[in-house]
Amino acid sequence: MSESMHGLKRTHLAAELSTANVGENVVLMGWANTCRDHGGLIFIDLRDRTGLIQLVFNPEVAGEAFAKAEKVRGEFVVAAVGIVHKRSEATINPKLKTGEIEVYVSELRILNRAKTPPFYIEEDIDVDENIRLKYRYLDLRRPDMQKNIILRHKVTMAARDFLDKKGFLEIETPMMTKSTPEGARDYLVPSRVNPGKFYALPQSPQIFKQILMVAGMDKYFQIVRCFRDEDLRADRQPEFTQIDLEMSFIDEDDILGLMEEMTATTFKDAAGINVETPFPRLTYQEAMDRYGSDKPDLRFGLELKDFTDMVSKSDFKVFAAVAASGGQVKGINAKGCADFSRKEIDDLTQFVAIYGAKGLAYIVVTEEGLKSPILKFFKEEEIKEMLDRFEAQPGDLLFFVADKPPVVAAALGALRIELAKKKNLISLDEFRFVWVVDFPLVEYDEVERRWTAIHHPFTAPKEEDVEFMETEPGRVRARAYDIVLNGVELGGGSIRIHRRDIQEKMFQLLGMSREESQEKFGYMLEAFEYGTPPHGGLAFGLDRMIMLMAKKDTIRDVIPFPKTQSAADLMCQAPSEATPKQLQELHIRLNVKTK
Ligand code: AMO
Ligand code: AMP
Repeated sequence: MSESMHGLKRTHLAAELSTANVGENVVLMGWANTCRDHGGLIFIDLRDRTGLIQLVFNPEVAGEAFAKAEKVRGEFVVAAVGIVHKRSEATINPKLKTGEIEVYVSELRILNRAKTPPFYIEEDIDVDENIRLKYRYLDLRRPDMQKNIILRHKVTMAARDFLDKKGFLEIETPMMTKSTPEGARDYLVPSRVNPGKFYALPQSPQIFKQILMVAGMDKYFQIVRCFRDEDLRADRQPEFTQIDLEMSFIDEDDILGLMEEMTATTFKDAAGINVETPFPRLTYQEAMDRYGSDKPDLRFGLELKDFTDMVSKSDFKVFAAVAASGGQVKGINAKGCADFSRKEIDDLTQFVAIYGAKGLAYIVVTEEGLKSPILKFFKEEEIKEMLDRFEAQPGDLLFFVADKPPVVAAALGALRIELAKKKNLISLDEFRFVWVVDFPLVEYDEVERRWTAIHHPFTAPKEEDVEFMETEPGRVRARAYDIVLNGVELGGGSIRIHRRDIQEKMFQLLGMSREESQEKFGYMLEAFEYGTPPHGGLAFGLDRMIMLMAKKDTIRDVIPFPKTQSAADLMCQAPSEATPKQLQELHIRLNVKTK
């Protein structure tokens, strides 16, 4: 029973109609959102990308349209011709943008029927995400998903426009390429015409964008898909999008300033959010010391305090021993949390244990005095000094963790966020940006027993630290920067190495033999010998940026067709098996047990 449009042309979008259109004859097309039969009249809310409008069918006035309306069910696709009327005072729906008007339909065409959808197409639904992903086309019809996708469009348009005006060129780089090391596994594509050889999908366009600088392009950008085979989380997808850029003849301040301007413009133009610039800067060390994280959330305080010096002389063996062995004893003043129950404290102790903390010592500060299992180990002056350092007041709860510095940072960094959540200190309307700078160049991987790059191997060391590259690599700071928003790493970049000798030194430090670096990156090293300008850049995680603007908890809500935790597309059922013929052509023999 589906009808053709027979030359019928849509004249308006549903929610763009207003009282200004009263009296006009309009043609609308969209989906039947809801259908109600009310004492002889039928009401259908017609939905399109812009929103809803109420259609009214009166059997006395338009018998044929009414008869068809009786057959319409949810998600049928319809075209309606009718006149816009102002609603009577009593029937105005203040919740609807078009709540003051309705359309009296003279002609209805059912353009297509629909099965009953597996969930309602409405704002807030409580449906298993797997069902939403399987029927993504229905999920995307929901107003909040439409909002997210429209926001995504606006962000990319705003960023493109900004970068174009600043003289950047949008240049594409290959998807079928050679491995780009960004710390994840590669997705590989077998080559039929080169038996036994594989392309890697780019983890980022890092090397190509640097080579574009060698090629004299000066300012490059690309809104580009990247692929990383890594453990997936709420803010990580196997394929995601970067706003990627690179510039020649610049230093840190140029790029940080420009990126602040771009962020402020994009947030304002796409989402109407005012962002204050310049952003504060923290060194990596400060961020770790004060927040226990290299992506601190600055929307709340609860900063970490260091007591290592104080407790090293104390009688509390646990703390003194940790301090003596090069560990740290640090704490957080949970302001106003003195009323936490024993169970709440036990739960938090278990919570920090996830991060490796062996205990969570505490002192409850009340008007009546202090309560704590560790008080007995400390002298009165020591306790006083602790309270002073914490700026403790009655009503506070003081927590301590003693361990190796990475454990203390991880445990207290996580506790800080947990406490902020528990005490509702996190505002969704606040956008607190911060640059984290001066990262270490490399870190020691205990498992692989070698130094690994914290950013990527192309990041330049600080000039004054180059001399330590061979003797004390852990001490070398990188010319790298991360942009952090509300505790999420939004983007990262660096000033690059642009000399072959330093780049080779870096590969060497990472434990790569000359042959290996030649095999993997020889083309880049060679390019560096033909006049490479000093250059640097950055990449924003576009999905994360939109997630934060849209106030969502996962990037899956701002990606049209995302993948699940196990990297599957539930709608098209990817990944899937290849046919024997395909495998044969690709020279691949499988080594998996088939079910
Ligand atoms: P980096 O690896 O820090 O830098 O990536 C830049 C930004 O991309 C986002 N991101 C991700 N988003 C979703 N899912 C993922 N799996 C994922 N991985 C990263 C993050 C991150 O900050 N080539 C360098 C940039 C440069 O040096 O210019 C790079 O890719 O928001
Ligand atoms: P104990 O003497 O082991 O009973 O510990 C006394 C208190 O110190 C308890 O509240 C423990 O949770 C806490 N504690 C033990 N080890 C640590 C540690 N490494 N860091 C912080 N607190 C600890």
